[in-house]
Amino acid sequence: MSASSPSFPANSAPAAVSWQGEEKGLLQLLDQTLLPAEMRLIDCDTVEKVWEAIKMLRVRGAPAIGIAAAYGVVVSQRSRADREAAQSATKYLATSRPTAVNLFWALKRMQAILDGNQDQATLTAELLAEARAIHAEDREMCHAIGRNGADLIDNHSTLVTHCNAGGLATAEYGTALSVIFTCQDQGKQIEVFADETRPLWQGSRLTAWELQQRNIPVTVICDSMAAHVMQTRKVDAVIVGADRITARGDAANKIGTYSLAVNAKHHGIPFYVAAPSSTFDLDLVDGKDIPIEQRNASEVVAPYDTTLAPADVSVYNPAFDVTPAELITALVTEKGVVQQPTEEKVRAHLA
Ligand code: MRU
Repeated sequence: MSASSPSFPANSAPAAVSWQGEEKGLLQLLDQTLLPAEMRLIDCDTVEKVWEAIKMLRVRGAPAIGIAAAYGVVVSQRSRADREAAQSATKYLATSRPTAVNLFWALKRMQAILDGNQDQATLTAELLAEARAIHAEDREMCHAIGRNGADLIDNHSTLVTHCNAGGLATAEYGTALSVIFTCQDQGKQIEVFADETRPLWQGSRLTAWELQQRNIPVTVICDSMAAHVMQTRKVDAVIVGADRITARGDAANKIGTYSLAVNAKHHGIPFYVAAPSSTFDLDLVDGKDIPIEQRNASEVVAPYDTTLAPADVSVYNPAFDVTPAELITALVTEKGVVQQPTEEKVRAHLA
């Protein structure tokens, strides 16, 4: 994979996902596996490189995966600008990760462009326009989520969050973190406990970094410390993102989210899930039907080439879990807030 390492001004980071050039351009990603130690941009000029970047979490977070995949279909036109190349890229990119529904949502939109295109000569331009529209819409949705969610958070609140649902995971601003950034824009004083988020540390590597960049006080805790923090410190709310939300409001998010929701319920702390409408899968009702990605054992027992368990020990590494709707105080979307979600309320909200 070709990489470029320009220097960036202090406290400023390039976008997680960007398109460089026009129809024969390429997808540029900020390699999130290297953060916060190194800010390196990678150029994805083949569909295989886009697939690898999604699979290996160089780009990650449900909305960002969808945006990257949409641009990935456009990348397919670099070597051969025709329908078959775009068609096989669409199918191939859908095999990269199974849980975040935004991936399939974005690829479905690209497929609709393919299906509707009448003139091969305009195909690449139409595909690029759609990918850019998906990107721009996500930016708008994230800012709207921030405004809607900020109404739920009082000044001087202390929040717990899990994984990374910030600007790195979206077009801009994030979902759960957009709520926090909007509170800051409104002049509210917010403090955050960020779960480190084992096994890939999206909380300590990415969320703590994003919050620090905006001068929001953040304290990193191991995932196992969250219940103790709720028991012994003032925690006003938990706010997280999601990878797929069913019609009745069951929400898949990074592994560890479910136990956070159980702990929040026990301590009487509101538990909020912030996500755009592109994260809802209305074809599913029961969260048990959400496909859960299983990842390589090495992420758990040998991260960064460090041996942390006996050789050949059995490992279970589900990347996501599902929080049942009854543990969710409210869903926050770009359209507003669904308190105590039920199937009736979710379908009406998104109609
Ligand atoms: O495996 P990841 O890092 O892609 O998982 C990401 C999450 O679980 C996020 O919380 C979710 O995608 C919401 S991002 C706005």
